[in-house]
Amino acid sequence: MKIIDGKAIADQIKSEIAEEVNQMVISGGKRPHLAAILVGHDGGSETYVANKVKACEAVGFKSTLIRYENEVTETELLDKVIELNVDSDVDGFIVQLPLPEHISEQKIIESIDYRKDVDGFHPVNVGRMSIGLPCFVSATPAGILELLKRYHIETAGKHCVVLGRSNIVGKPIATLMMQKANPGDCTVTVCHSRTQDIKKQCRQADIIIAALGVPGFLKKEMVKEGVVVIDVGTTRIPSDKTKSGFKLKGDVEFDEVAPLCSCITPVPGGVGPMTIVSLMKNTLLAGKKMIY
Ligand code: GUN
Repeated sequence: MKIIDGKAIADQIKSEIAEEVNQMVISGGKRPHLAAILVGHDGGSETYVANKVKACEAVGFKSTLIRYENEVTETELLDKVIELNVDSDVDGFIVQLPLPEHISEQKIIESIDYRKDVDGFHPVNVGRMSIGLPCFVSATPAGILELLKRYHIETAGKHCVVLGRSNIVGKPIATLMMQKANPGDCTVTVCHSRTQDIKKQCRQADIIIAALGVPGFLKKEMVKEGVVVIDVGTTRIPSDKTKSGFKLKGDVEFDEVAPLCSCITPVPGGVGPMTIVSLMKNTLLAGKKMIY
């Protein structure tokens, strides 16, 4: 059984990006600039955005954090998006989700210029991704593919079961895993809350990608021996053992499932660090104006 070290791979990619940024700046180019809009004070979102800003510093990007209180109106937010769309200094930007109930996430996402949509959430990017055209691929799915690639995990002809059908992870990773590509070329089954006999589906899987947001969902009796397990879950569980007062728990009951796996990602330290690094890769693409 091999534990996939997402942190180590992420660090390696970060130094690759830093090196490239260095070369760009030395040869007179512009430093890539990522802006992030954060609404409200959700603990998870605060942490994610702080980590994104920190990652920008680590690779030599310029970053700007734009904060709003929960009471911000949809119009105010749309105005800011439009301002960032035309700001030639900003190469790419993200609007951290979730947004408050009174704001339409879809409306905000669709107002972002797809050429600056480094989250890959705009329908133009989602559509291009689904037919295999150059685009911004959303960060978590891109991070999963990078882990599979760098660990030389064979995917062609394998049966991949995706747990969860979110727009951010489940749907795009299912699309990518069935794409004629490497990683890819899988037979893909997508399971969700209405799926009958998830255990039977999972037991047939060579690769399981768990992205339900249900801590400890995948148990040992649900997997076959030799399976590759990618755990995307990051639920905050109260803990008196950590400074922050919580710890992250994945969608996989790691201790009992890991011994049956050929490869498995831990939580934390698996997919999480890769997600941020994928956003950095997309920002680099945006800085080089590679998506148009
Ligand atoms: N909320 C959870 N994941 C993400 C993400 O990848 N990007 C943004 N903008 N919001 C999120």
